[in-house]
Amino acid sequence: MRLDEGDIMTGLIIAGVDGSAPSDAAVEWAADDALRAGAELRIVHVVDRRPYDITRFPVSDQEDHLRKAAGKVLEAAEAIARVRQPTVEVSTRSIEGVPSAVLREQEASELVIGNRGVGGFVGALLGSVTMEVAAQAGCPVVVVRAEQREKRGEIGVGVDDSDTCEPALGYAFEQARQRGATLRLIHAWQVPVHAFAPEVSYDLGEVRAAQREVVRKRIAAWRARYPEVNLAEDVQNAHPVDALTSTTCDLIVVGSHGRGALGSLFLGSVSRGVLHHARCPVAVVRSQEFVGGP
Ligand SMILES: Nc1ncnc2c1ncn2[C@@H]1O[C@H](COP(=O)(O)OP(=O)(O)O)[C@@H](O)[C@H]1O
Ligand SMILES: [Mg+2]
Repeated sequence: MRLDEGDIMTGLIIAGVDGSAPSDAAVEWAADDALRAGAELRIVHVVDRRPYDITRFPVSDQEDHLRKAAGKVLEAAEAIARVRQPTVEVSTRSIEGVPSAVLREQEASELVIGNRGVGGFVGALLGSVTMEVAAQAGCPVVVVRAEQREKRGEIGVGVDDSDTCEPALGYAFEQARQRGATLRLIHAWQVPVHAFAPEVSYDLGEVRAAQREVVRKRIAAWRARYPEVNLAEDVQNAHPVDALTSTTCDLIVVGSHGRGALGSLFLGSVSRGVLHHARCPVAVVRSQEFVGGP
């Protein structure tokens, strides 16, 4: 986004860093997004003392070691942000505590973290900090992977037939507007499978038309509010995780929970599946207990 004279900074984007490659990628993504949104960037490293709580080591030595390590992680991350977006306002902070708890409690307009960190085992797709922060933070959480991909000029959002996707839609429309990207409205539907009543049949043409109507109704108010955003309707007879991860987008936006799981400590199964299988950044936007659109 271009900042006009007189524009004020709005928002605080926080990138959580631990020195890993995915966390470096998160810093770059966060710096780009801070520029687009006209927001400030804060880089946070949480110093977790639990693994070092061993009394036979002299405490002052550990303190010094941990402080130095945290300083190095923050310094490296800050350098990445400044090289990437020299005009974005950047600050760093080192905070003591349990990483997932500290991060999800930050007051930010957005949290950006890697899909993995320095502590994961080979083959793990998602770290524990990633999962907990994505499920429990009050603000949108963007999960970034280390592998960079070519820009497509398109972002995708999952649309379902409940109000729980409203905050995700709001986030997605705003991202599309700021990027001048096409917004792909992805709605997957499946007919119920009756293992014991195979004679139950459906008119697929009718179901398809009804599902398209679901999307139109759901996004009508957003379309009116963001007339400049170019939309692509993508209604598929598929599993939602397949539908959301099979198209190549620059960003996939999903709600944190589906219908009926509000207030849960866990992510909904679609959000979790998308986080596991996506090859691009994923924004998980908290589903709020509210009804209504823009
Ligand atoms: N101590 C920390 N301070 C700040 N951010 C962290 C910290 N640990 C992890 N993160 C963030 O969470 C992401 C995922 O890390 P994590 O869930 O710990 O994965 P792993 O289990 O592979 O270490 C990291 O890329 C980083 O963005
Ligand atoms: Mg870790």
